[in-house]
Amino acid sequence: MAQHNLDNIDKNEYPHINRGLDGIVAFSTTKSFIDGQKGELIYSGYNIDVLADKATFEEVCFLLWNDRLPKKTELEDLKNKLIAQRELPKPVLNYITSTNKEAEPMSVLRTAVSMLADFETEKTGDKSKDDRNHAIAMTAQIPTIIAAFDRARKGKEIVSPLKEGSTAFNFLYMLNGKEPGEAAEQTMDLCLILHAEHGMNASTFTSRTICATESDMFSAVTGAIGALKGPLHGGANTAVMNTLLELEKDGEKADAVAFTKKKLENKEKMMGFGHRVYKTFDPRAVHLRKMSKKLSEETGHVKLYEWSEDMLKTMKEEKDIDPNVDFFSATVYYSIGIQPDLFTCIFTMSRVSGWSAHYIEQSENNRLVRPRALYIGEKNLEWTPVEER
Ligand code: SDX
Repeated sequence: MAQHNLDNIDKNEYPHINRGLDGIVAFSTTKSFIDGQKGELIYSGYNIDVLADKATFEEVCFLLWNDRLPKKTELEDLKNKLIAQRELPKPVLNYITSTNKEAEPMSVLRTAVSMLADFETEKTGDKSKDDRNHAIAMTAQIPTIIAAFDRARKGKEIVSPLKEGSTAFNFLYMLNGKEPGEAAEQTMDLCLILHAEHGMNASTFTSRTICATESDMFSAVTGAIGALKGPLHGGANTAVMNTLLELEKDGEKADAVAFTKKKLENKEKMMGFGHRVYKTFDPRAVHLRKMSKKLSEETGHVKLYEWSEDMLKTMKEEKDIDPNVDFFSATVYYSIGIQPDLFTCIFTMSRVSGWSAHYIEQSENNRLVRPRALYIGEKNLEWTPVEER
């Protein structure tokens, strides 16, 4: 469709349209800070590099929900609450096992999360407490949904969640039916930390907008999952992996440089590259790149890593565009045995912490989100009866 011509618009009435809300500051937040020029990312005061080095995903959840690190007893308490809530309500499990096995995992996840609301009816009378409980419930149950659907669609028996262990450990256990090694658990945990929160991205904006109508957190997270699913947002990691696997089919003839140049010549987007805020290397991609190199060597997927590097170099030379979080996370997940169409679900497993943190923050200082649209259609047309059109 042709782009709208805005030349004849009364600029005094609506001086600007920021397409894609580019540069618009819509909320204040203590959850994260991004310096897109420097490539700096901070979660509630802590640099992502420090968190990647020292934190666990559960500590990051507490940090985002409370704006401070947990004391030892608070961390234990949170871990126990997460463990206690891992089981799914029976009707949700029934849905997962009976739905179309060919369905997109993100669609199943979206529906199942929406269903969870029906079983979280106990209210304490304190919204802030209830919201935190809901955040814990979804963070605990989303991994169970993902693993259960993956096993159900493959005709495998569902593995019940463990009554111990980290979110990362338990997820890999439920997915594969066997306990993961330390390295796989650490990789998974680091991925969860790196994806937890990222300012006013499209899905978080969705979560806050839904919250601002005073709707519930399950609705906000359901909407956010819908937003994350798209290939311009979280869906890019699956697209990156599919691209690399396509290249693999060319065998000896595979040429990632030529592939990238051709894509650019055809004015197509290279998935996993570019970002609205970062004009340099995404700091999360720095960690994921290192992990990708190490894991691909360990698991015999060196070619996938080398092609990724070729793409990266070509994108830099041709367009001066750097990779985003979705680029190297693809090969990292693939190397630990996760299949590509689950990648965006893994992103969700982590980002639910950020979405719920923003929901809590928005609830505490709320105003309805209600921007304007510039009407560029005609006005007061003559009505024509249906027979005469
Ligand atoms: C995530 O915002 C967040 O925080 C998101 C995220 C998070 O943590 O939540 O970081 C996660 O969603 C990462 C993004 C995943 N998406 C992709 O990898 C899809 C491919 N990338 C793009 O389509 C794009 O870069 C976006 C969507 C990420 C950003 O889009 P913008 O800011 O609207 O930029 P644009 O499309 O207007 O592009 C500006 C220019 C254009 O060139 P010109 O017309 O000016 O010559 O850059 C070019 C674009 O063509 N460009 C690309 C490109 N990305 C930008 N060209 C080729 N390949 C790309 N990937």
